[in-house]
Amino acid sequence: MMYLNSTGQGLRTESPSLNTGALLVIITPSILTANYCELGATMDEAIAAGIEWIHLDVMDGNWVINRTITFGPALIKSIRERVGPDVFVDCHLMVTNAEENWQQYVDAGVDLVIFHVEVVDDIPALINNLHSSGCQAGAVLNPATPASAILPHLANLDLVLVMSVVPGKGGQSFMEEMEGKTREFRAAIDAQIAAGGRATKLMIDGGIKAHNIAQVADWGIEVAVVGSGLINDKGTIAENLAEIKQALGA
Ligand code: DX5
Ligand code: ZN
Repeated sequence: MMYLNSTGQGLRTESPSLNTGALLVIITPSILTANYCELGATMDEAIAAGIEWIHLDVMDGNWVINRTITFGPALIKSIRERVGPDVFVDCHLMVTNAEENWQQYVDAGVDLVIFHVEVVDDIPALINNLHSSGCQAGAVLNPATPASAILPHLANLDLVLVMSVVPGKGGQSFMEEMEGKTREFRAAIDAQIAAGGRATKLMIDGGIKAHNIAQVADWGIEVAVVGSGLINDKGTIAENLAEIKQALGA
């Protein structure tokens, strides 16, 4: 399976130890638990550890239940400049007006905009706008939202994100009850690919750690967001990432 970054070059697809049956999952850090005054150094540390994808959580203080405000296009632009063009950057929009301000995130340099289906009225129009601007389009759904909210749009989506926590903060507990919905998407995407359609990526976000990464890989996840499991004071990003990769058999 090929994952394209902003320069159209392939990201690493094969685990160096594929022959040992290692599960293939791209690990992308969420920076919610990072020290924002040290963010540049944290980005350098992540890339030095082998990270090729950065997950940026945008909260506008309105949409998420605990009214959290994180950051916006200005910080994203600085992160893009720091990591360079070859690192894949997504923004997870937990905002009330993605249909009005998506262009600002594209202009800030993201490769992929991920919008919540619960808060977008015209999903086909937003997907079309993103693609017309050369940006990938992803849709995310809250734990309580059924897969049927996204399935009609699957053929045009570059990514589907299954939340395994209720959005709003890092460090929450993983919701195992997302297994059924995740496997439903896996089956739908595999059928779409088998019919010659788009190789939509399947991502999970919330409570992912070394102890459950192999479980979600078995569900069919290809990309896993890891926040407090990677950026914490228990170890360096490289040490925490090595633990996760070991759990995947890589
Ligand atoms: C929550 C965010 C997640 C979160 C993940 O609303 O969308 O990306 O930061 O952090 P952990 O891995 O700590 O649950
Ligand atoms: Zn997120």
